Amino acid sequence: PVPVIVDCDTGVDDALALLFAVRHPGIDLRAVTCVAGNTDVDGVVRNTLTVLEQAGAPDVPVARGAERPLIEAPRSARHVHGHDGMGDLGLPAPRRAPAGVDAVTLLRREILASPRPVTLVPTAPLTNVALLLRTHPEVTRNIERIVFMGGAAGAGNATPVAEFNVWHDPEAAAILLTAGVPVTMYGLDVFTRVVVPGAEVRRLRASAEPGTRLAGDLLAHRPAHPGSRPGDPAEDDGGLGDAGALCAVADPEGLTTHRLPVEVSLAPGPARGQTVVDRRPRAGESELHEGVREQSLVDVALDVDVARYVSLYLATVERRPPA
Ligand code: BDR
Ligand code: CA
Repeated sequence: PVPVIVDCDTGVDDALALLFAVRHPGIDLRAVTCVAGNTDVDGVVRNTLTVLEQAGAPDVPVARGAERPLIEAPRSARHVHGHDGMGDLGLPAPRRAPAGVDAVTLLRREILASPRPVTLVPTAPLTNVALLLRTHPEVTRNIERIVFMGGAAGAGNATPVAEFNVWHDPEAAAILLTAGVPVTMYGLDVFTRVVVPGAEVRRLRASAEPGTRLAGDLLAHRPAHPGSRPGDPAEDDGGLGDAGALCAVADPEGLTTHRLPVEVSLAPGPARGQTVVDRRPRAGESELHEGVREQSLVDVALDVDVARYVSLYLATVERRPPA
C-alpha cells in the first residue's frame, strides 16, 4: 500500500476522506494532522479523533497544528459545516488525546521514518504544510507527491474566483506550489462533480456498521443555507468533496490532469487567493514562461470519472469489491 498522511480540517467531507483512507487496502494511513479551517483547530482535532475511532482506526497518530493562517486573520466556515465543524451529528467525544507533539513535528517524523516515499494529502488550508516545507525542507526527499484539495481553474467558492482552502491561507498555498515537489491539484473543477446519488446515501445510512452509517450521515449533511443554483446536485444527493482527493491517490486513472503553470494571487483585492491556471495552448512548455517569476508546473485535475469514484468510494467504506 501507498504510505499516506492526511492534513485536514475535519470537516464533513474531510471526515468522508478519513473513512476512505482508513478502509482502502491500497492506502497505509500513517498519520493525520489537523489545521484550523472549517472550524477552530481544537474542534478539528476532536472531530478527527472521533472519526478515526468510528472508522475502526483508533491508533493512527493525530496531531494538532496551526490555529490560524500565516498572515490572514483566523476565520471559520461554521455556516457550511455546522457548529461542531462536522455537521452537528451528535457524535461521541473521542476517547483519546492527540499526540504530544505538534503537527509539523509529527509530519517531519512520519515522513522521514517511512520506508517508502509518502504521499501527502492536504484537504484543508495549507498552513501546516507550508510551515513544514519551510522549517524542514529535507522532508521533500521522502515525499512522493502532494495531492491537495484546493484551488480552481474555473469558478471559486469562498469568492467568485478563490476556493476556500487556498483563500483561507494564500501565502501557505504559494509556498506549497513553489516547493519543487510534484503536486496534483484536486480543485473545484472536479471536487464539486463527484456526487453520490440519494438512493445510495439512504442505503449507507441504514447500515448496521458504524463507519458505513457515519459515511451516509455525512453525505446527507446539508449546509444551513445551501443557496441552490441550477446544476446543483439534487436535494438528497451527497458530494464526496475532499474524499475525491483520496480516491485520486487510490485510483489515479480516474482523474484527467494537465501539467500547467499555476500561481496563487496574493495581492489584496478581489482576486486574492485565486489559483491562476495558465490554460493557454502550450502553457506547460517552459520557453513560454522564461523570465516569469516563481511559478510552478502543477498536475491540475480538469476531469474526473464520476461513476468510477462513486463506486470506488462506496465499495471501500462498505468493505466490498467495486461494482
Ligand atoms: C474545501 O473547503 C472545505 O470547506 C472543505 O472541507 C474542502 O476542503 C472546499 O472548498
Ligand atoms: Ca477540508
